[in-house]
Amino acid sequence: MEFHVITLFPAMLNALDTGLIGRARERGLFTINGHDLRRHGLGKYRQVDDTPYGGGCGMVMRTEPIASAIEAVEASRPGLLKILMTPSGERLSQPLVRELAEARPGLMLIAGRYEGIDDRVRSLIDREISIGDYVLSGGELAAMVLIEAVVRLLPGVLGNPESLAEESFATAGMLEYPQYTRPEEFRGQRVPQVLLSGDHEKIRAWREEESRKRTARRHAGPIGLAGSRQDR
Ligand code: 6GU
Repeated sequence: MEFHVITLFPAMLNALDTGLIGRARERGLFTINGHDLRRHGLGKYRQVDDTPYGGGCGMVMRTEPIASAIEAVEASRPGLLKILMTPSGERLSQPLVRELAEARPGLMLIAGRYEGIDDRVRSLIDREISIGDYVLSGGELAAMVLIEAVVRLLPGVLGNPESLAEESFATAGMLEYPQYTRPEEFRGQRVPQVLLSGDHEKIRAWREEESRKRTARRHAGPIGLAGSRQDR
């Protein structure tokens, strides 16, 4: 699978070279290609933004450099799903991540910067995605979050595919149950006795119940509504 990211800061993508993702990339399971938007800027100063029509503070990203960059990537690699990373997009979720992991040859992610982007850019892309209800100065970190989430679903990336199966159960709306490893006691906090019992049916039932309780607590209300969540 291929990821192509159009950005003013392609160096930010180097952060994806570490750990699980870095190793999977070395093994050739996917590629990440940064495309410097500045190279498509206008005039001597390679301008990519301008003042907004109608006035107001801040700058707006111009359409032509983005169109030029999209068309250059599209020419070298036809058929990519074109996604604009924007806080006003559809919220990224695990079901959406699973859908994106099927895209072939892959994804073209456009990371906006500055205060906004000319609305006509929306006519050039297939979808708009946000990673949550808060504002980042640019779409780069959002694009990297999306890549990280998609890559770990690609065949061969995770050492143990069983953990993916457990997880898809966990993300069918249920949160994961509490986990413990050694030591049996840490500063007075003991590992729940049932987990040491060796009774697999009892352990399964306990985990299911803990998962249910955690889900009820944490999903008590929409995130961001003050007072709706007691436990964070
Ligand atoms: Cl995709 N971009 C920006 N700039 N901010 C965000 C976002 C994206 N998703 C959440 N906040």
